[in-house]
Amino acid sequence: MGNETITLLSKREIDKMRRAGSLSAQLLDHLAPLVKPGVSTLWLNDEAERWTQEHGAVSAPLNYKGFPKSICTSVNEVICHGIPNSKEILKDGDIINVDVTLIVDSYYGDTSRTFLVGEPSPTAKKLVKVTEECLRLGIEAVSIGGRIGDIGAAIQEYAEAQGFSVVRDFVGHGISNIFHTEPQIPHYGVRGRGKKIRPGMVFTIEPMINEGSWQAEVLSDGWTAVTKDRKLSAQFEHTIAVTEDGIEILTKV
Ligand code: MF3
Ligand code: CO
Ligand code: CO
Repeated sequence: MGNETITLLSKREIDKMRRAGSLSAQLLDHLAPLVKPGVSTLWLNDEAERWTQEHGAVSAPLNYKGFPKSICTSVNEVICHGIPNSKEILKDGDIINVDVTLIVDSYYGDTSRTFLVGEPSPTAKKLVKVTEECLRLGIEAVSIGGRIGDIGAAIQEYAEAQGFSVVRDFVGHGISNIFHTEPQIPHYGVRGRGKKIRPGMVFTIEPMINEGSWQAEVLSDGWTAVTKDRKLSAQFEHTIAVTEDGIEILTKV
């Protein structure tokens, strides 16, 4: 597919994306101190939904293609799309990705972070740190006139050098007044390949990095994606905009 399938957003649209992105980041800031041993992932979901309504926004995941909750909570071996559950109680040593997407004035902000619960193992802490650095390196690889493949190459190079692997089955995505659209942003790949990066493009970068092999499988609930080897997985996500002035992270407070 050519670049004609990628919608370039106007300044006015990017301004709306900025508001959605900021509120989404504020929601993660609100949830961060609540992620503690003893709380259930459903409680975090309900607190997120309450906060979102209080701020006049809408939770995009709720009922999206049948997803039953407002946020995704992905614990330990869960790669992404974990469903909040009252029986899932966080315990010391867990890692949990909380992924929020808010709709503000019809536009979407999509961001996630992986939190440490109490004191995880050195390997778990390294995985989380490396994954956050993968997101940073992916963003740094974005340049006007560059290619989408530059992003995945930067992420894959670093993740694998650190002894980890990059999930293939889930990718970043274009985002606007549509949750998931063109282009796809793989977190692995080859520099110089893929579509050209142009001003007006808005997309997520959301590397999922595994402790063991990159293979994934989806559980029988149709959503929860886990590592095939049941080793740990971590993820961080930002929504970014390419503007004439440079690369902007929209999902910041
Ligand atoms: N927020 C996820 C993403 O980064 C998508 C979640 S879709 C859901 O693209 F249905 F699982 F909520
Ligand atoms: Co996303
Ligand atoms: Co997300």
